[in-house]
Amino acid sequence: MTFDLVIRNGTLVTAADVFKADIGVKDGRIAAIAERISDGERIVDASGRLVLPGGIDAHCHLDQPQAPGLASKGAKMADGFRSGSISAAFGGTTTFVSFCVQHRGQSLTAAVKDYHQRAEGQSVTDYAFHLIVSDPTPAVLGQELPALIRRGHTSIKVYMTYDAMRLDDRQILDVFETARSEKAVMLIHAENHEIIGWLAERLERAGRTKPVEHARSRPLPVEREATHRAVTLAEIAGVPLVVVHITGGEPLEEVRRARARGHVVIAETCPQYLVLTENDLDMPDMLGAKVMCSPPPRDTAAQAALWRGIEDGTIDVFNSDHAPYRFDSEGKLKAGPNPPFRAVANGIPGLETRLVILFSEGVVKGRIDLPRFVALTATNNAKLYGLHPRKGTIAVGADADLVLWDPEARTTITNDLLHHNVDYTPFEGLDVEGWPKTTISRGEIIVDNGRLLGAPGRGRFLTQEISSAWKTREMKAWI
Ligand code: URP
Ligand code: ZN
Ligand code: ZN
Repeated sequence: MTFDLVIRNGTLVTAADVFKADIGVKDGRIAAIAERISDGERIVDASGRLVLPGGIDAHCHLDQPQAPGLASKGAKMADGFRSGSISAAFGGTTTFVSFCVQHRGQSLTAAVKDYHQRAEGQSVTDYAFHLIVSDPTPAVLGQELPALIRRGHTSIKVYMTYDAMRLDDRQILDVFETARSEKAVMLIHAENHEIIGWLAERLERAGRTKPVEHARSRPLPVEREATHRAVTLAEIAGVPLVVVHITGGEPLEEVRRARARGHVVIAETCPQYLVLTENDLDMPDMLGAKVMCSPPPRDTAAQAALWRGIEDGTIDVFNSDHAPYRFDSEGKLKAGPNPPFRAVANGIPGLETRLVILFSEGVVKGRIDLPRFVALTATNNAKLYGLHPRKGTIAVGADADLVLWDPEARTTITNDLLHHNVDYTPFEGLDVEGWPKTTISRGEIIVDNGRLLGAPGRGRFLTQEISSAWKTREMKAWI
């Protein structure tokens, strides 16, 4: 067979192995992996490069509509599917899963239709949608959600905070019940809304309104309590639960305890919680707003606890939580040049820097090995969100989504190196080792040595199969 593309002389990394081999690509898929492949229309020499499965970022917010009462606080998202996917591709990510939000009063099906329209013709990489339920009406629970899950939206998210998004415990149980009957996997943003409101009021009354007070209004126990409640609700309803953006040891302990009881709970963390702390919010003027996300970054002890969770397997997935707002009057400073923290959009960009930060801080510093890096950034997400084996691995039959990675490149992250539409990066000045040089999506080179080659609109929407979380063991419910 003559292959369309042959990648020669690279060191291949999967979630299980590291080995030298060539890859032959035909019709966008991996058709052969062998010691030596010679016949190809196009040969790419990967000497000195690691060949990784393209990254999968399963937590990013792109082109979410503006509305009050959300994490955005009414601000405009800087990235849609075009700039977001370009940024992803430059960062070595070939698939992303972004959030399709149902706004209160809106039909979920209408939200999905709207989100498809936003994505249409824009993305350079493949993508899928998690659905966010903020208004679980009988029609949503009884008809819309089951139909959408059957159509391939098999991951559903709910929030425990933000005025216009949060569900109460009973509503969460209702959504979990539908997820259980249709075998969807649930994701949850776990923070205690009432404590945040109570603390924020007191901070404001005391005149403490700077960005750093955002962190003080949502300390770790806020997340610990909500995580405990979330896993308890999931146990009662009998659904697998992904606790997203975990920031420290106490919520991780809740995950460990739930697992020890036999429940399927998956823990996610993000780059910001490994390399930033609350001190980064404590900057002059409004600069700390550039690091304001929820939950907030904590301290070095929390970072150490997360690394332990990554090393011991408690944390399974590593995603960016890319939530892009510019540092201007449409974004972070929407409520004025010096707004109180409660009026500032929650969220920071990170789609493009996710892989380099984990590689540099994790692999280069000897905390994790290469297969674990691939598992955390690609394979586990693919399995969890029903995209495996098509995505997230290097295997015959899989899509040829690959990254040629230079493990020795040394770079200082600055915003002018990045391709998102945000005017800053919270990781400015961070020194990293390792960089994605070539990104390949379904056999097509979409980024090569700093040049974008993939056309917007070539990316395809992916329907999801049932999550691997439903396959690991039988889920028991208390009803
Ligand atoms: O601050 C954050 N994380 N903003 C994005 C929305 C969310 O909570 O994930
Ligand atoms: Zn969240
Ligand atoms: Zn998020």
